[in-house]
Amino acid sequence: MSTTQFGKKGWTPDRITTLKGKTFVITGTTSGTGFEAAKILLKKEAKVVMLNRNPTKAADTLATLKQELGNAIPVTNIQMDLASLASVRKAAEEVLKTLPQIDALMCNAAIAQVPKQTFTEDGFESHLGVNHYGNFLLQALLYPRIEESNGRIVTVGSMGYNLGIKTIQFDDMNWDKNYSPNGVYSQSKLAQIMCVYELQDRLKAAGKTGVKSYACHPGASSTSLIKTSGSLMTRFIWQIMKLTPMVQSAEKGAYPELMCATEPDLDQTAFYGPTGKNYWTGPVGECKLEPHAKDKPVMKRLWELSENETGVTWNL
Ligand SMILES: NC(=O)c1ccc[n+]([C@@H]2O[C@H](COP(=O)([O-])OP(=O)(O)OC[C@H]3O[C@@H](n4cnc5c(N)ncnc54)[C@H](OP(=O)(O)O)[C@@H]3O)[C@@H](O)[C@H]2O)c1
Repeated sequence: MSTTQFGKKGWTPDRITTLKGKTFVITGTTSGTGFEAAKILLKKEAKVVMLNRNPTKAADTLATLKQELGNAIPVTNIQMDLASLASVRKAAEEVLKTLPQIDALMCNAAIAQVPKQTFTEDGFESHLGVNHYGNFLLQALLYPRIEESNGRIVTVGSMGYNLGIKTIQFDDMNWDKNYSPNGVYSQSKLAQIMCVYELQDRLKAAGKTGVKSYACHPGASSTSLIKTSGSLMTRFIWQIMKLTPMVQSAEKGAYPELMCATEPDLDQTAFYGPTGKNYWTGPVGECKLEPHAKDKPVMKRLWELSENETGVTWNL
């Protein structure tokens, strides 16, 4: 069993005393790690604003949380579809209008393993569009409020960053020539992680020390990820794996993002998640990050491309 800077058990929410007075914005809370993270934040007395694409599921989530934790919990939902830049802009506007403070933006929502190449409303391949460009735009638009709050941006990546081609396919960003569900999911998660470290470099260059940006992953967690978008075969394999100790609970999968959103004095340059075998399960702490995730020329080019494609300029 590995040990972490937080001891043998690794980081757990027991380390949080109270989050009273703090506000967290989190994407994708209708299931999986996002739901569990929102629940723990609320239990610790935080205010939570959820950003979800499906209004019916969001209403059900609100009802479930209120049933479990009481009607008075400070939780709301704003509709946002990461597959639409217009929707992200509208949601960000609403967040900025209604929230005077953001202590952490937790970019948790994603899709995975979409069997056939599909496109977002803006013409991006769906994994790249939802997981990378959507979250990139959201972060840039909320950055001014996060800066005013000396807050954090937490990006939920995946060990998938270390699969596939291990770089960004700039000459074919929509994967027209070699589409593969796994390859393009890995690419989108690598893109998300690279932008965490590129943001750190840009904040440093601008002399801004207030905002912190973290990358983490949930290991292998029993969530709806594959069920929502994967092929029949991938879903079948995943259903079997979920019954084995190779896969942990969704609640444990939420710990890395909660740690990055709340733990004081956490090193931003690291990559966090479960530290057991293959980094799939185990105590939460620092995981080794392979150098291709910090390939500077690629990070810089990806950032510039992402600003261009989403039509946003970070106000750093
Ligand atoms: N589970 C794992 O083993 C695993 C491994 C590595 C990384 N991850 C990462 O963990 C994070 C959480 O995923 P999960 O495993 O908890 O999966 P999940 O149960 O499927 O939850 C994903 C959430 O994202 C939302 N979402 C999907 N597309 C969206 C869109 N276009 N706009 C807004 N929200 C959208 C989903 O909403 P709907 O209910 O509307 O679909 C859902 O609330 C993801 O970033 C994923 O890549 C998970």
